[in-house]
Amino acid sequence: MTPSCTAALELAALLCDLSPGDEVIVPSYTFVSTANAVVKTGAKPVFVDIRPDTLGMDADRVEEALTPRTRAVFVVHCAGVACQIERIMALAGDHNLLVVEDAAQGVNAFYRGRALGSIPTNR
Ligand SMILES: Cc1ncc(COP(=O)(O)O)c(C=O)c1O
Repeated sequence: MTPSCTAALELAALLCDLSPGDEVIVPSYTFVSTANAVVKTGAKPVFVDIRPDTLGMDADRVEEALTPRTRAVFVVHCAGVACQIERIMALAGDHNLLVVEDAAQGVNAFYRGRALGSIPTNR
């Protein structure tokens, strides 16, 4: 439905209705489009470290980065390997956060039988 993952991320960021003052947690290791989509809304990307085994964001670091201004988490499934999506979805549920999956590198890759990028949303 979009011509690129960059466009999809920018559309997703708009749909999150982000605005200046909002914080969005993103992984420190990703393609620049992940963070740029957040910056274009005026919100602040908050970078968290990744795990050596998945190269995706570390759920423990996500938890540490949460503040009252956190609105969303943009996760990245790196090189076809799922990040800690279940733990991050649980955190998002507990803190009422939106989750956007950047699955640009997840084509034809699956987590528990579900295509990366299609993990059910919490809203
Ligand atoms: C993790 C990640 N997100 C977003 C993009 C952007 O995708 P596109 O080149 O389709 O805009 C890429 C491209 O390599 C990527 O690796």
